[in-house]
Amino acid sequence: MLFGVFADVHSNLEALSVVLDFFKTSRVESYIFCGDLVGYGPDPDGCVESISQLSRLHAVCGNHDLAAIGRLSPEWFNPYARAAVEWTIAAVSAQSRDFLAALGPKLETPDFTLVHGTPKRPTDEYFLSPEQIPIQAPFVSVWPVFCGHSHMPQCLRQAAGRLESRLLEDRQIIVAETGELAAYNPGAVGQPRDYDKRACCALWDSQARSFQVFRLAYDCAATQAKMRQRGLPESLARRLSYGQ
Ligand SMILES: [Fe+2]
Repeated sequence: MLFGVFADVHSNLEALSVVLDFFKTSRVESYIFCGDLVGYGPDPDGCVESISQLSRLHAVCGNHDLAAIGRLSPEWFNPYARAAVEWTIAAVSAQSRDFLAALGPKLETPDFTLVHGTPKRPTDEYFLSPEQIPIQAPFVSVWPVFCGHSHMPQCLRQAAGRLESRLLEDRQIIVAETGELAAYNPGAVGQPRDYDKRACCALWDSQARSFQVFRLAYDCAATQAKMRQRGLPESLARRLSYGQ
């Protein structure tokens, strides 16, 4: 089956629309969303509405989603992220809140495990290094793991006694090795942090066991204009121009 894998939308509707169009053109059959649908950006309700219409959606919540519905204190967020959380709390509709509240922190299917951060601590820990794989293994029944949170497209794996970490570029494809324990991060749709401002997402073919990253241009200036119009912090708008 072909899965569209995406994460860290962060209320960026222009980027999300481009990614969902790409998934449709690619004839994706099912979706994997790794959390942080809202926070930072100007369109929380629009983004919730878009992904709530997807059939065969597998989704978990991220730390920003929990903060937006009052289930996580934003005191540990930096001041700009906190300002955006406070704006989001006031902006989201009751319907969007209900959708976000229904997302769990971890999802296990017969084919994969889904979290925002790590299997051990799904909503707050970053999965950044292959050295974490043996620590996470007791918390994983089914590999691969799909995760987000770092906003970096990445493959971490342990295969044939070897640990490997790869940051992934546009169109780069990773094919699973026999017996590997792997975590795949599709990068961020709405706020990339690898100095490439294009939206990021991935396709996972569960038969071919391949994971491929794609970068897609979107109307970043339109998103920034909306952020300024809504009074969101200028630094959050500006960082979209730099992929940071
Ligand atoms: Fe995020």
